[in-house]
Amino acid sequence: MKAVLVIVLAVSVFLPAVYASASTPLKLPKNYHSWQKSSRKVVTDKNSLFYGVHYIYADKKGMQGYRSGGRFPEGSTIVVDFYNIGANPSVDGARNMIALMRKDRRAKETGGWIFAGYGPDGKPNDIDPATVCFGCHKKDASDRGYVISTLKDFQK
Ligand code: HEC
Repeated sequence: MKAVLVIVLAVSVFLPAVYASASTPLKLPKNYHSWQKSSRKVVTDKNSLFYGVHYIYADKKGMQGYRSGGRFPEGSTIVVDFYNIGANPSVDGARNMIALMRKDRRAKETGGWIFAGYGPDGKPNDIDPATVCFGCHKKDASDRGYVISTLKDFQK
């Protein structure tokens, strides 16, 4: 009886930890500003989610995926920094959001990519990855491995 109790206790202590780690958003990689950077992209349409300025950063595997036209190796990671647009559009305003995609075959519901959104401070935001992020990427780029930008965005 005592043993059963110990097992029950152990399971109830450890299970939440396992679930938490599966659903805890990824931490932003610290070094992503040293990755390959896209050209400066300005969206002036106020109705667009991407209104403002953004830069895309891709790690080595991510660049391999861009070069292959959409076959991204496991682990490929792509990060986008978003900035406000000021009265002078050639100057970046304050950063307002960060978005990340990492190729992970366990993320079956979202096309084999983990999607994660962050506030300007790098803390996870509450945008739902499955419906909001993947919904749009699936619509726009299901024929390119769900990645919307292309190699030419990195050619300056
Ligand atoms: C309304 C549509 C839409 C939604 C919602 C959306 N994205 Fe995107 N995303 C885009 C577009 C369009 C681009 C390409 C931008 C470019 O070409 O400069 C993009 C680019 C990206 C990129 C760079 C790689 C790529 O696919 O080009 C990442 C990473 C990314 N988004 C992550 C996210 C995350 C994480 C979320 C949810 C928090 C999200 N996106 C929600 C439309 C969307």
